[in-house]
Amino acid sequence: MTKTIAVAGKGGTGKTTLTALLIDYLVRNRKGSVLAIDADPSTNLNLALGVPLYDTVGDVREETATAVGGGQELAGMSKWDYLDMRIQEALVEETQFDLLAMGRPEGPGCYCAANNILRTSVDRLSESYDYVVIDNEAGLEHLSRRTTRDVDVLFLVSDPSLRGLIAAARAAEVVSELKTAVGAIYLVVNRVVGDELPESLRKSIEENHLKLAGVIPADPAVNELDAMGEPLVKLPDDSPIRRSFEAILKAVDGDL
Ligand SMILES: Nc1ncnc2c1ncn2[C@@H]1O[C@H](COP(=O)(O)OP(=O)(O)OP(=O)(O)O)[C@@H](O)[C@H]1O
Ligand SMILES: [Mg+2]
Repeated sequence: MTKTIAVAGKGGTGKTTLTALLIDYLVRNRKGSVLAIDADPSTNLNLALGVPLYDTVGDVREETATAVGGGQELAGMSKWDYLDMRIQEALVEETQFDLLAMGRPEGPGCYCAANNILRTSVDRLSESYDYVVIDNEAGLEHLSRRTTRDVDVLFLVSDPSLRGLIAAARAAEVVSELKTAVGAIYLVVNRVVGDELPESLRKSIEENHLKLAGVIPADPAVNELDAMGEPLVKLPDDSPIRRSFEAILKAVDGDL
């Protein structure tokens, strides 16, 4: 059975950073095979992971729409086989995990038959991994478009601000209205300065019925790597962000 773990939250709170560290955690602890899905159209999960990216599912969609619109043959294949083949080509295969970037979402006037095939194709691909880890854009567009797969664990990332927490609470609400069933929802407050969360934030977490999995400190080592364009997986083992996120993951390990 595939476990699906998704990371969501307000813009710029650290979703991509934590997704990369989560993937690294699963790999290091030999939890099983991992498919990383970059569901943010600005596709930067590959940079955080330090792997190349050539093609996105969105590119495949556009290219197919053009081919069909222009009446071209799809390399003599059925639409199904062709799109399946192109998804395989868009898949970045690394030794420790694979990565698929969704790229630009379907726009209005999209080629819908291709879309349905692509969604089913991504779902089917996902089924062959032990873990699927999804880095979402600030909205929950990707989750709301998913077809069959449910989400086992959703991490809602917030910064230590009331606005961040309210966005997380709203995301939790939206998720409960989706077709996608979600197992556990955990709040992670990232970039916290000092050891404790201010009382106002603790109160808001309680009032919004969010389950706090833990807090992660602001870590200058992250900014240093960012400044040099280095992947986050280069963070030293004993870096504060890595250590506190690992403690959180160990605490919820039963769900992973
Ligand atoms: N614990 C941390 N300490 C210091 N800097 C951090 C920490 N977590 C994230 N950052 C930095 O904050 C910035 C935003 O992080 P990231 O890109 O992971 O957020 P995001 O939620 O994925 O953003 P977006 O909504 O744009 O996708 C990055 O420059 C990242 O290096
Ligand atoms: Mg991001």
